[in-house]
Amino acid sequence: MEHETILILDFGGQYNQLIGRRVRDLNVYCEILPYRTPLDKIKARTYKGIIFTGGPKSVYAPGSPSYDPAIFDLGIPILGICYGAQFMAYALGGQVAPAAEREYGHSDLTITDTSDLIFKNVPKQTAGWMSHTDQITRVPAGFHITAATPTCPVGAMSCPERRLYGVQFHPEVNHTPEGNTMLRNFLYEVCGCSGDWQMSTFVENTVDRLRTELAGKKVLAAFSGGVDSSVASLMVHKAVGSQLTCIFVDHGLLRKNEGDEVMSVFAHSFNMNIIRVNARERFLSKLAGVTDPERKRKIIGEEFIRVFEEEARKIGKVDVLVQGTIYPDVIESGTDDAATIKSHHNVGGLPKNIEFKELVEPLRDLFKDEVRRAGTEMGIPDELVWRQPFPGPGLAVRILGDITADKIALLQDADAIFREEVAKAGLNREISQYFAVLTNLRSVGVMGDSRTYDYTVALRAVTTQDFMTSDWAKIPYEVLERVSSRIVNEVQHVNRVVYDITTKPPATIEWE
Ligand code: XMP
Repeated sequence: MEHETILILDFGGQYNQLIGRRVRDLNVYCEILPYRTPLDKIKARTYKGIIFTGGPKSVYAPGSPSYDPAIFDLGIPILGICYGAQFMAYALGGQVAPAAEREYGHSDLTITDTSDLIFKNVPKQTAGWMSHTDQITRVPAGFHITAATPTCPVGAMSCPERRLYGVQFHPEVNHTPEGNTMLRNFLYEVCGCSGDWQMSTFVENTVDRLRTELAGKKVLAAFSGGVDSSVASLMVHKAVGSQLTCIFVDHGLLRKNEGDEVMSVFAHSFNMNIIRVNARERFLSKLAGVTDPERKRKIIGEEFIRVFEEEARKIGKVDVLVQGTIYPDVIESGTDDAATIKSHHNVGGLPKNIEFKELVEPLRDLFKDEVRRAGTEMGIPDELVWRQPFPGPGLAVRILGDITADKIALLQDADAIFREEVAKAGLNREISQYFAVLTNLRSVGVMGDSRTYDYTVALRAVTTQDFMTSDWAKIPYEVLERVSSRIVNEVQHVNRVVYDITTKPPATIEWE
């Protein structure tokens, strides 16, 4: 069945997938295509509406993203966001100019045309989250101003006759309190969508598509037991059953007892064909003496694939590799137009000479909470679906500096205590991700009557919706106190525990 579809035309901004996720949360299916997509391809589909995303450039910069203005004559409603709105204004004969200073963050937004469809049910005084240097200074013929901020006279504009709308702020981020209402208005009031898309449909469609795509092929999955890889593997398992073999590379960098738990659930309850490879020594020797975070990630990524290739050879010809890559992995490894922040091992670290013919990544467009919803749809029990995200390189990115077997054991113990106490306090659902980090820092302490010179363990706990930004969790002091006292008492060679109180940005969630 063909769903109502919104096209998101990607001009290279950081929040583009977030727009997609908001649209899907509003039960409308969407596709995200780069701005280089030819107009004919767009014309060939029946889109209910188009959203132009933000982007980092100025419309006047050489080589800045643009699009064939004929797109405005298709009769399809268009919403331009930030750069997308500037491009709309510029392309239709309005004017864009650099603002006196860059406007970033919260801005008071006044709706100057409360009858505008985009602002239906939005209070006249609200807020918009801004991130721009240029701004629209004159709207094109046929448009009028619909909202403004104290420093941005064209906060929003519209031409209802042609169903063209532009907003200078970002309705897709949480910091724009009425942003969701505005997006809903665009989808339902302007584009006339009815909301026919749900996660259950996504799962069904993906499983159906995989069944066709993978017919007669031997499939291998990268299985780590984490939420992403287990949801991806289970989807493929549902599509092709025993054609799928999962290889669980136990690199020895998992949390305490995790490997055994994962096997008991997925191999036994779900009856999936999982081979566990104990590759701990191999990884440890490759990582010996390596301190640079990016090199650690690259080494682990490459070794992962090597182990796979060897196992794959043992089981005969393999056609397709499944990976549980999710959207934040993709965006943070740098797309064409966004900067590289970290090379997540399952994207950036993939070696060039990979021996598999095809790569299947069924979750590539989903955010973490959508992956969980997909997992629930497929019947994965809550305690698994709600497991915390765990990075592919595992504890390697939580041990600063070089990695040794002793440091891994120490961190596993400290981390297990932290997780146990958080769960006991009933905070495990509220906190999105929490773990211990072994800083490479040693400091002086006193134990009994003696001086100690031991490690500092950092506790990291964050709340977030999408893992692109996060806040630190306000864990009650009593819980922190218990965790700290248990760690220094029960884990040898730790004499100090600190709590990380940094948001993302500027920090990231993991320490490496
Ligand atoms: P950062 O540290 O980039 O983390 O703020 C955002 C989310 O991604 C997870 N993460 C990874 N996941 N492979 C993964 O599959 C990786 O290499 C990786 N590095 C970070 C991190 O745990 C957090 O949930």
